[in-house]
Amino acid sequence: MISIKNLSVSIEGKKILNDISFDFKTGKTYALMGPNGSGKSTFASAIMGHPDISYSSASKILFDKRNIKNLSADKRANLGIFLSFQTPLELPGVSVFALLRLALEKKITPIALREKIKVYAAELHIKEELLKRSLNDGFSGGEKKKLEALQAVMLTPRFALFDEIDTGVDTDAIKIIARFLKKYLSPKTTSVFITHSTRFMRYTQPQEVLVIKDGRLVKTGKDTLAKKIERDGFKNL
Ligand SMILES: Nc1ncnc2c1ncn2[C@@H]1O[C@H](COP(=O)(O)OP(=O)(O)OP(=O)(O)O)[C@@H](O)[C@H]1O
Ligand SMILES: [Mg+2]
Repeated sequence: MISIKNLSVSIEGKKILNDISFDFKTGKTYALMGPNGSGKSTFASAIMGHPDISYSSASKILFDKRNIKNLSADKRANLGIFLSFQTPLELPGVSVFALLRLALEKKITPIALREKIKVYAAELHIKEELLKRSLNDGFSGGEKKKLEALQAVMLTPRFALFDEIDTGVDTDAIKIIARFLKKYLSPKTTSVFITHSTRFMRYTQPQEVLVIKDGRLVKTGKDTLAKKIERDGFKNL
């Protein structure tokens, strides 16, 4: 579904990702690991189309075989690509309802939308009062991540990137978020969980683990790779 070919990117002239190639398959779940500063969030931004990213001429991001490298982030979102931010943005004046209403305008009536948000919010243990407030404005770290999970499920993405949705989240909430995503994301959705936590991976059960180090994809493997990293760190990869 998404095929990355020779992806090299820089931000403000600084080279961050170096010649990454990988095929993501429809409906599979992946974990993306790597040391701090290795380029994981940049990889997610490059797929989503962050405007600060410059791609090398050889880089290709093929979505259903079409190169989307030059598409803006909103066009990529319309194709079904979703990114949950490591640090979710605050949107003063915009409630989660208003945001999703805009995104799903033709797909669901306002009443059905409100009802669905309420049901999902209850399942995620999100206080109803938060739904009326501006998105992420004054929310706690964990509350923001729960709202990201809610938006991911509401938007029914085809390719969903979750950048550390498990960080800043308490031990019960990690389980709640992981189970919620497992339960409600479509089996056809391809999911990529950027994470440092093997515990979170126990709940999300990725079929393949990717490791980025110094901007390169250095290793792929099964869950045993994540266990090895937990035991030995990244030094021998
Ligand atoms: N806007 C920017 N300008 C300059 N350098 C940047 C910018 N964004 C990222 N970088 C650099 O690119 C490198 C990779 O950053 P990135 O955020 O992708 O790492 P990461 O693997 O997600 O790390 P972490 O596990 O800490 O979230 C870092 O050295 C970072 O300082
Ligand atoms: Mg990051």
